[in-house]
Amino acid sequence: MRKLKFLCLTLFFLCTALLGQWTRLPLDLPGPALPGESIVRAAAQKVDPSQYVGSADCADCHINEHSHFTVTAHRKTLDASSNPDLRGCEACHGPARSHVEFQKKVQQLFKDGKDDEATAMTNDEAAVKASTLINLKELSATRSSAMCLKCHEGEQGRIEERFNFRRSEHMRHGVSCLDCHSSHSPKRTEYLLRDTEPNLCYTCHADQKPAFSKPFHHKVPEGAMKCSDCHNQHGSFAPKNLRQWGPNDQACVKCHTDKAGPFVFEHAPVKAEGCQSCHTPHGSTNPKMLKRNDIRLLCIECHSNTPGIPEEQGGIAPGTPSFHNLADIRFRNCTTCHVAIHGSNFNRTFYR
Ligand code: HEC
Ligand code: HEC
Ligand code: HEC
Ligand code: HEC
Ligand code: HEC
Ligand code: HEC
Ligand code: HEC
Ligand code: HEC
Ligand code: HEC
Ligand code: HEC
Repeated sequence: MRKLKFLCLTLFFLCTALLGQWTRLPLDLPGPALPGESIVRAAAQKVDPSQYVGSADCADCHINEHSHFTVTAHRKTLDASSNPDLRGCEACHGPARSHVEFQKKVQQLFKDGKDDEATAMTNDEAAVKASTLINLKELSATRSSAMCLKCHEGEQGRIEERFNFRRSEHMRHGVSCLDCHSSHSPKRTEYLLRDTEPNLCYTCHADQKPAFSKPFHHKVPEGAMKCSDCHNQHGSFAPKNLRQWGPNDQACVKCHTDKAGPFVFEHAPVKAEGCQSCHTPHGSTNPKMLKRNDIRLLCIECHSNTPGIPEEQGGIAPGTPSFHNLADIRFRNCTTCHVAIHGSNFNRTFYR
């Protein structure tokens, strides 16, 4: 019995360790290595500090990148106390000793008028290849994103914001950090974005634009809120990359806190199916962004006297009681009586 327990425990830990390994950085990826990438692979396993030269020399030849870099948030990576592979330019481009030595030599030869020797060096494919740094533009989406995630999956910025990037709709469709962020030439410097929201999102999601010009819409085009208020573009556990503000898995209750509950009497679909069961979140031609133009029709969709409301809509909704005379105008606007439609602490039928 004891042995069995031990075996089970060992197996459990082995499996979790393997799973953990599997979901961690896929730096060591299958497939042919791209230029400079062998360095990343090696770096992932072992960092050889002697191959790192620091960022000071880079400015001599890459003045644009260098001066721009020093005004972005990434200047903080220049901190001399961090590991060489996480410091400055080399954090993203890999160890640069051979690159700097090679390029300086070439430069010197040109300076000395030894153009032939210099050209011979630059024509030596093997030597050039050995001195080539990682160019993130040339890496696959997974690989370049892994480069960024080695810092951004953990402590930097909002904790947990990017923990799900690998399983996000974006990563799974080959959208990388660099599709939205630009390290050196952003249109604006805030968050190094390629464009501001929502235009950044519309470059690929133009089909979502019309909803936001409907009469009742969330004020995204007006700039009062952003797509990323509801969605986590970096990935989430919820479907449609929706943000999770709390235990209820809803993007909406961060702002609409009064709808969050918990209520003594919950209206089942609010919790079970979410706000989307009654509202069209982007925009709608119906007031309050409701799915139906007539509240009555919305309610009757579930509260009809025909049984068989699907499980995912919160189970069986009771039919509308027969004393509700739907021919009578008084009964048509359901929420004049059932006012606390999102849930109530006082009344089972949401009277208040
Ligand atoms: C003496 C000049 C010189 C210095 C110093 C230098 N570079 Fe370069 N670098 C070049 C040249 C020239 C190229 C273009 C090579 C080519 O196109 O084949 C280049 C290309 C690059 C590229 C594109 C990828 C590649 O290797 O072709 C990156 C990234 C880069 N350098 C980063 C750096 C960083 C980071 C540093 C500092 C650690 C640095 N460079 C220092 C001259 C230099
Ligand atoms: C946060 C990661 C990161 C850091 C740090 C970084 N770079 Fe880059 N670098 C990139 C990316 C990504 C690109 C590809 C172009 C882009 O998206 O802006 C690039 C492109 C370049 C290029 C142009 C390569 C080409 O072919 O166009 C040069 C040169 C370069 N970087 C030099 C530097 C220097 C010099 C530093 C330090 C002062 C530096 N980089 C720091 C990520 C980084
Ligand atoms: C060596 C670690 C490291 C790497 C690699 C790295 N970053 Fe960063 N990044 C940082 C640090 C540190 C900050 C500053 C965080 C802060 O201000 O608290 C930062 C900030 C940012 C910001 C916020 C900028 C702002 O204005 O607030 C963005 C966006 C970002 N990084 C994107 C990227 C992308 C994209 C990559 C890959 C090309 C990348 N980072 C690679 C360390 C890194
Ligand atoms: C689909 C576009 C998109 C992709 C892909 C993307 N980002 Fe972002 N990122 C954004 C937007 C938009 C913001 C600004 C959010 C805001 O304004 O609150 C942002 C903000 C950030 C910030 C600063 C704010 C914070 O959360 O700390 C960092 C750091 C960052 N992204 C890193 C990354 C990294 C690393 C990757 C790749 C693993 C990545 N992003 C992929 C769109 C994207
Ligand atoms: C470079 C193109 C690109 C950019 C920029 C981009 N996306 Fe995406 N997005 C995609 C692709 C591709 C998919 C997956 C296929 C699909 O569902 O359309 C996707 C999926 C999504 C999904 C999930 C849709 C679903 O059906 O599950 C959401 C939500 C989303 N993106 C929001 C955003 C937001 C918010 C922004 C801006 C911060 C943004 N995207 C920027 C390309 C992009
Ligand atoms: C008020 C919150 C909110 C805002 C703001 C918002 N979304 Fe959404 N979005 C949602 C919800 C909720 C869904 C899921 C709808 C559903 O499941 O029926 C969704 C769905 C999506 C989808 C998937 C569409 C589909 O047909 O499956 C995409 C893509 C998307 N949103 C992109 C965007 C973009 C781009 C912006 C900014 C221009 C944006 N969203 C702003 C809440 C929001
Ligand atoms: C960033 C804050 C924010 C988030 C997140 C948010 N909303 Fe809103 N919402 C607002 C604001 C502000 C208004 C009212 C202002 C306006 O647009 O007229 C509003 C209005 C509404 C209205 C219409 C109210 C009326 O009186 O017409 C509904 C319904 C609604 N939101 C539902 C949702 C749903 C569903 C979600 C999640 C998918 C959500 N909201 C997420 C801020 C937010
Ligand atoms: C069972 C259907 C249903 C669900 C689910 C639902 N709502 Fe509503 N909601 C309504 C109806 C009906 C109205 C209009 C009430 C009225 O006009 O008196 C409304 C109105 C609103 C309003 C505007 C009026 C107000 O009370 O502030 C907001 C904001 C809102 N809902 C947000 C949400 C949020 C956030 C969620 C998810 C947590 C949600 N709703 C889920 C049916 C629903
Ligand atoms: C998506 C389906 C759905 C929609 C739409 C919906 N409901 Fe419900 N409703 C339910 C479910 C499921 C219950 C929970 C029944 C239970 O707890 O046994 C419920 C419960 C109720 C109750 C309490 C019944 C009781 O005896 O506990 C009332 C009252 C009610 N709904 C009124 C409305 C009104 C008014 C509307 C329209 C604004 C509406 N509902 C829209 C699914 C829905
Ligand atoms: C004039 C006020 C009034 C209006 C308008 C009204 N109801 Fe009711 N509703 C009631 C009363 C009263 C009850 C019974 C409360 C109780 O049993 O404590 C009730 C109960 C319910 C129940 C719960 C039935 C059960 O078996 O528990 C549902 C579902 C319901 N109404 C749906 C609707 C729908 C759908 C509409 C709109 C078509 C609507 N109501 C309009 C007053 C109203």
